[in-house]
Amino acid sequence: MRLCEPPLIPAGTIQKHVAELAAAIDRDGNGRDLVLMAVLKGAMYFAADLSRQLKTPHRLEFCRARSYSGNESTGEVHILVWPETNLAGQRVLLVEDILDTGRTTAVILNRLKEEGASETRVCALLNKPSRRVIPIPEDYVGRTIGNQFVVGYGLDYEERYRGLGAIHVLEEDGCA
Ligand code: IMP
Ligand code: MG
Repeated sequence: MRLCEPPLIPAGTIQKHVAELAAAIDRDGNGRDLVLMAVLKGAMYFAADLSRQLKTPHRLEFCRARSYSGNESTGEVHILVWPETNLAGQRVLLVEDILDTGRTTAVILNRLKEEGASETRVCALLNKPSRRVIPIPEDYVGRTIGNQFVVGYGLDYEERYRGLGAIHVLEEDGCA
């Protein structure tokens, strides 16, 4: 595996996307309270930056689901971590690193609806629409990318590369 240079999305550009997303969320929310539900582990960095840019009053919650082994989707999604707090009647913004097949998002959205969230929206830094298997809402998306495997800014390959400040393509053979 090779980490391609230059980065697909440099650190400064990521922060511009975060600021734009925060502004759009603030605009739509009209000051109403929000629950930011970050999907661990990948969305940790994004959620932390988004939280600091948002003017909307919000609390931060975490959930964790797993659908991947290596870079192939296994197709099955299990929820491993879920907030203990009551989500009934809450406006919830699901914060994801990347929308891929849509399976993780669909499972988490279902659970949020079961628990009575009054509104659910999806915010993802990255979107890979060409990989979608299940249709999901794309309320706030930072950037659409092709069918590439990317790492950095929270995104991993077998738990590596999360701490990179920029987002890079990871290639098996050679970089373009
Ligand atoms: P989905 O359920 O197929 O949409 O998978 C979503 C999850 O798969 C994301 O939250 C990521 O953790 C992981 N994932 C999908 N694409 C990539 C990628 O390009 N790099 C790293 N992780 C990815
Ligand atoms: Mg992963």
